[in-house]
Amino acid sequence: MKKAPEKTIYLRDYTVPPFLIDKVDLQFVLEEKETYVTATLQITRNKASKTEEKDLHLNGDSLELVSVALNGHALNETQYQYSPSNLTIFDVPEKFSLNVKTKIKPEENTALSGLYKSSGNFCTQCEPHGFRRIMYYLDRPDVMAKFSTEIIADKKRYPILLSNGNMVESKDLSDGKHYVKWEDPFKKPCYLFALVAGDLEFIEDTFKTMKGRHVLLRIYVEKGNLDKSHHAMQALKKAMRWDEENYGREYDLDIYMIVAVSDFNMGAMENKGLNIFNTQYILAKPETASDFDYIHIESVIAHEYFHNWTGNRVTCRDWFQLSLKEGLTVFRDQSFTADTTSKTVARIDDVDHLRNFQFAEDAGPLRHPVRPDSYEEINNFYTATVYNKGAELIRMQRTILGNELFRLGMDFYFATFDGCAATIEDFVSSMEKASGISLQQFRLWYSEAGTPIVNIQDHYDEITNIYTLHVTQNIETTTEKKPLHIPIKIGLLKRDGKEIHHELLQLKEFSYDFHFKNINEKPTPSLLRDFSAPVKVVFDYSDAALQLLFKHDNNLFNRRDAGQRYALKVMLNLINNYQHKKPLSLPHDFLATFEYLLENMHEDKLMIAECLNLPSEKYIGEQMPIIDVDAIHHVREYVIKALALKLKNIFIRIYEKNNDLQSPYQFNLDAIGKRRLSSMCLFYLGRLDDPAIYKNIIMPQFETAISHNMTDTMASLRAITDSTFEGREKALNDFYEKWKDDALVVDKWLSTQATSIVKTTLKTVKELTKHPAFDIKNPNKVYSLINAFCFRNQVRFHDASGESYEFIKNIILEVDALNPQVASRIAKAFSDWKRFDNERKHLMQKVLQDILHHKNLSNDVHEMVSKSLYL
Ligand code: BES
Ligand code: ZN
Repeated sequence: MKKAPEKTIYLRDYTVPPFLIDKVDLQFVLEEKETYVTATLQITRNKASKTEEKDLHLNGDSLELVSVALNGHALNETQYQYSPSNLTIFDVPEKFSLNVKTKIKPEENTALSGLYKSSGNFCTQCEPHGFRRIMYYLDRPDVMAKFSTEIIADKKRYPILLSNGNMVESKDLSDGKHYVKWEDPFKKPCYLFALVAGDLEFIEDTFKTMKGRHVLLRIYVEKGNLDKSHHAMQALKKAMRWDEENYGREYDLDIYMIVAVSDFNMGAMENKGLNIFNTQYILAKPETASDFDYIHIESVIAHEYFHNWTGNRVTCRDWFQLSLKEGLTVFRDQSFTADTTSKTVARIDDVDHLRNFQFAEDAGPLRHPVRPDSYEEINNFYTATVYNKGAELIRMQRTILGNELFRLGMDFYFATFDGCAATIEDFVSSMEKASGISLQQFRLWYSEAGTPIVNIQDHYDEITNIYTLHVTQNIETTTEKKPLHIPIKIGLLKRDGKEIHHELLQLKEFSYDFHFKNINEKPTPSLLRDFSAPVKVVFDYSDAALQLLFKHDNNLFNRRDAGQRYALKVMLNLINNYQHKKPLSLPHDFLATFEYLLENMHEDKLMIAECLNLPSEKYIGEQMPIIDVDAIHHVREYVIKALALKLKNIFIRIYEKNNDLQSPYQFNLDAIGKRRLSSMCLFYLGRLDDPAIYKNIIMPQFETAISHNMTDTMASLRAITDSTFEGREKALNDFYEKWKDDALVVDKWLSTQATSIVKTTLKTVKELTKHPAFDIKNPNKVYSLINAFCFRNQVRFHDASGESYEFIKNIILEVDALNPQVASRIAKAFSDWKRFDNERKHLMQKVLQDILHHKNLSNDVHEMVSKSLYL
């Protein structure tokens, strides 16, 4: 059956809910084939609603209605109407109780939204519209109710039965079944509902809150994974303490549970008191998880924990306000990571991510404001713009207000909107009220799409000693011709690298001259320090100026950024040469700067590693009018190899100094810094394609590390997989044989191969879709193989033959029939088709059209593809 196309939903059409639900009592009778859900809803008409509507309309999705009763009386067919997606009760009273029973089939739920099965256990995902796949309901976040949940299930197969809040009753029933009842004392929207039933193991700990309450902490995992859950528990306690110390936020229930499941569309979900996580963001031990995994686990656990206040206690009025919880919570988890790891490196990683993913999104047909005006499928709006640009908007408000006023603003926001469904406007006005600073002009950031370009020219007057920065702003895609309020942190450096001045400039005009007096020599400006606004700065830096900043800027973020600008400049020049068939050669000064970095910047190893990391192929493409994938790849590889050749001995020396294959893994900044630096050296050395280096350095590392250290193992396996080294196949096989029973390690094995630069990658990816390790129904497998290939292997995905495009098209259609959210995320790979040369453009356009003409396409993919084609 073809679904009617979803119509566009507009923010301007928002009206308050016509009915409110005060109390929800749920009962689940969990069975393998079919599950019966009974809900008793206490409903009242909303006095604030102006609607004349007499009928109650409840949302559903793929539901089978069993029975419905109002105030205890079964309704007859003339009193209601229903379909799988809607239940209407005619002419309801002011206040009533509604009892609805539905039947659902969790085993057939491959979309992983609503109630579904993962590794034999039941679990739920309700944000944003999964609850309506469980029960007819007013499925909108501004309807907040108190929930109780009764669960009945076979005790042997499902000994653990969980839901939100506190367990208030449990007992054994006849026929080997058992019963539990959970009660959540806090009002919540239904998207925060959760249920888990299964044969799980757990670890537990306690946390003493700032007011002295003891909270029980539990992490549930599938059998056999307990030894990988301890890092997650440490992370949780760290996050709880951090939120108390930095925001004064205390946890509010007596128990906090996390369940890790293998089949999950996203990373994790903040359900009240019962977070559900993708195993990827819980399970870690040194031999299976890398430093990146350890760090990500901490940040995702923190993120979901922080939602308890920014998302749950204060929730969103409607889904257009998604960034109110997600942008703010990303900002909070970024601050947490910055505080608990390295401030500068954390900022570098966040900005790299924004520039690599959000900038491209903001420049293409899928661009949208942080607070979108309309959507067809809200699942398509969990984007880098809503999340990461949204976090930047919060950060800018903190920069404008200063830390203390920002904290007052947060306190005010929590105090005013606790228990409410709020808007982004409520947040911004809280900041204004608490600080006395107007953010009137700042608000525009929330409604404008596109990355602003800030053009800067400088002028130095030797007679008056006045230095001037002439700054202009524009957004190419602006709808309103109004300037944005842009905070620009700058510094001015003398020729010897010493700073003479620093300041926060606040640009509020389209064009403005900032003057600096008493400047005795023409300075070098360090612009947009710490990336103080999500903009592109255009300034015509000389190579010498970039070298000076790279060596001396006291703002470490900008120091590395100068290196990146310099590398970008060099590579764009080389790309131009390559396109004009001119010979390539690495500028001597560039080489010298790299050498300087390796020889002199010993203070911070993580920083050196970040500086050694060249701008990605994707980011280089972003800077070009037409993305020339082959030229980009050729030149970037040329530069890597040239650096490796010239600096080989230094790389070997630093590698040997920092590499430690014997000591047991330690998760601390010093150890991580050493590993990241030695991995970087290994990366460059690997690019020499020198058999001796493989034999004497890379293979020994692989063979030693594989038993106890995944960070070092992956660094070597990545080098091997990118090479034509004769031991390549064997290394990949050995790795697989050792780890084939560990799903998360197999994911690494898949993505390493999918992102390999070797020419046979597409063939390998195709073969891997047939491999027993692959499972098209499991999102982690699809993301590790397919999305890694599409999004992290520009040169192979965009192979001129168009073969990858055809292959991915078929995968998208196959996945769409099972799981539209996952399919839609793959389909995004074609959204920037207009940025490529004519041949690739047409090939991609054809793929998009084929997808669009496919019958039974989901709304998710339909919106993604039609917008890509026609906007
Ligand atoms: N609320 C989201 C999870 C979610 C997203 C549910 C989309 C349904 C649809 C959660 O808080 C979240 O943002 N998770 C992120 C990870 C986070 C660290 C940014 C995710 O799952 O990717
Ligand atoms: Zn979130």
